[in-house]
Order: sequence, then structure tokens, then C-alpha cells
Amino acid sequence: MDIKEIKLKELDTEKFIEEKIQEISSMVGEGLAINALSGGVDSSVVTLLGHRALDDRLKTYFIDNGLMREGEPESIVSLFKDLGVHVELLDTRATFLNELKGRIDPEEKREAITRSFYKEVFGALVKETGAKFLLQGTNYTDIEETVAGIKRQHNILEQIGINPEEMYGYKVLEPLIQLRKSSIREVGKRLGLPEETYNRPPFPGPALAARVIGEVTKERIDTVRAATKIVEEELCDSGAFQYLAILHEDRVVGIREGKRDYGLQIEVRCWESQDAKVGSPTRLSFDVLERLAERITTEVGGVVSVTYNITKKPPSTIEAV
Ligand code: XMP
Repeated sequence: MDIKEIKLKELDTEKFIEEKIQEISSMVGEGLAINALSGGVDSSVVTLLGHRALDDRLKTYFIDNGLMREGEPESIVSLFKDLGVHVELLDTRATFLNELKGRIDPEEKREAITRSFYKEVFGALVKETGAKFLLQGTNYTDIEETVAGIKRQHNILEQIGINPEEMYGYKVLEPLIQLRKSSIREVGKRLGLPEETYNRPPFPGPALAARVIGEVTKERIDTVRAATKIVEEELCDSGAFQYLAILHEDRVVGIREGKRDYGLQIEVRCWESQDAKVGSPTRLSFDVLERLAERITTEVGGVVSVTYNITKKPPSTIEAV
């Protein structure tokens, strides 16, 4: 790997910000750039760096791919409005669901999401706006895992042989590529992001699709979205690195109102980690686990089983897909 990591202890936050603003500004020149903001720490930091460098020559979009958490599109647009950044909400739900239809292999699903983002959505935006650059928050761990063949991270292109300029007609700028999550949080803090954003638990680019085993359909996303909301409400004070709900493909026999119910299974994961490279399950109390099971089986339609993952990463990974 020819990208050199900047470790947290080596990071001079102020200098890093100044250098990246300079770099973005000299690369884009007088032209236009676009970027997609998901509201996660990486894309939020890139959005602020980009606006500092380019002002309104950076067009920022929230891509509603239908795979986001409840209320997320509206809340992120409103948060950035308060930070002085106009974010355009783009409804691309049909594009992503169509590409994902019938796919069950995890890497194929990731590939379908990559294609939808880069070819369909950004390709169209570049044509529409005349932008020649896409700014994105790829980080050092994304590159490492893709190169190691663990998972194709949705935002990796050049490392898997895709030349975005040739294939899609725009250049990709990745100012955070040398940093891991803990350093990106420091940069976010220095840039003035609110704490709930720079300390936000990570959320994957493929969004809830990374948490549906088997085919991704609107109905299955709705199920995992409802379970995610409960897990986030119950575990937000746990101090854990990341917590999530996964919808399994297999059904199991359960009982509802005295009758057999061949129902859905939700797996809860809650991770202790520094940078997502390795992780271990949080030792949640049994009371918390029982409350999660109770709420998920009563509030999320069709779920008859809730399990808690007790595996470390490796051999597990943080997400299921
Ligand atoms: P895994 O599942 O590989 O996840 O152990 C490591 C960390 O990365 C997040 N993740 C992603 N982030 N694009 C991203 O930007 C992706 O395609 C992606 N897949 C996983 C995951 O949530 C965890 O924090």
C-alpha cells in the first residue's frame, strides 16, 4: 500500500487542515466540485474542509438511497444549515433498490451500491453541474480492508482498478485518506463540528444494506431500520464504539398469540474498538439485553428471535455484509 498513514500521535490538526484546504483549492482551481454528505464523521469533515476551500463552488448533496436510518435525511440537512452549509436532498431511492434487487452475495451487493453511487448518481450530477471533481471521505481503514480483500468498501475505486476519470468522467479527491477514525474526529472537532457529529458512532457507506443478510428489499430495510432505532436508543449511553442491528435471512419458529409463527431473527452487535480494525463485544448487562429483546420483538413486526453477538473482530467483522 503506497499511502502513508498519519497516526493520531503524529497529527498536527491545525497544519493538516490548512494543508488540505490548500490542496483542495489548488486541485479544483476555478472549477466546481461535488460531494455527498451522509452525516457521518468522515463525510461531515470533508464537507467542512471542502467549503472552507471552495465556498459555494462545492455543491453538497445528501443522497437519499432509501437505506438510511429513520429521519436521517432531514436531520442532516437541517444540522448543516445551522453550520452555514446548504445541502441538497436528492431522492435516489428507486435507483439503489433496483440495483440491489435479487442480489444475495455480500460483495455483489456492495458492488451494486458502488455502481449506483458513482455511475448513476454522481455521473448524472457531474453532467448536470459541470463539476470535474468529487470530494469524499475515504479513510485509511477503508483502503486497508479493501486491499486485504476483506470487504470492498463502498468508496474504494483506484485500489480495485477503477479509474474514475476514465470510467465516470470526474476526479476523486480524498483528503482524509491517511487518517483513521480517531484522527478524523480530532479534525472534525477543530473544524467546529458539534460533538454529536464528531463523536458519532461510525455508520457504513452501504448504510442499512450492510445489515441485511440476503436480498435487500424495501420491506427488509424497513425491518432493520425499526430495529436499529431501538438499538440506538437503548445503547447510545453505553459508551461503545458502535452498536447495530442485523436482519438475518433464516427464519425460525416462534410463538405469537399462542400460535406458531415462522418469524424473523435480529442480531444485535455492540463493539468496543478504537478504530474498527479490531474489536470486541461490549459486556452489556443482562437487563439491557433483555430490554432490547423485549422491545424488538414487540415493536418490530415479524421478529420472534433476538440474539447478541459475542464474537471478536477478527474473525467477525463489525458489519454483517
Ligand atoms: P467492518 O464491517 O469491515 O467495518 O469490520 C469496519 C468499519 O467500517 C465501517 N464500514 C464502512 N464504512 N464504507 C464505509 O465508509 C463501507 O463500505 C463500510 N463498510 C463498513 C463499519 O461500520 C465499521 O465502522
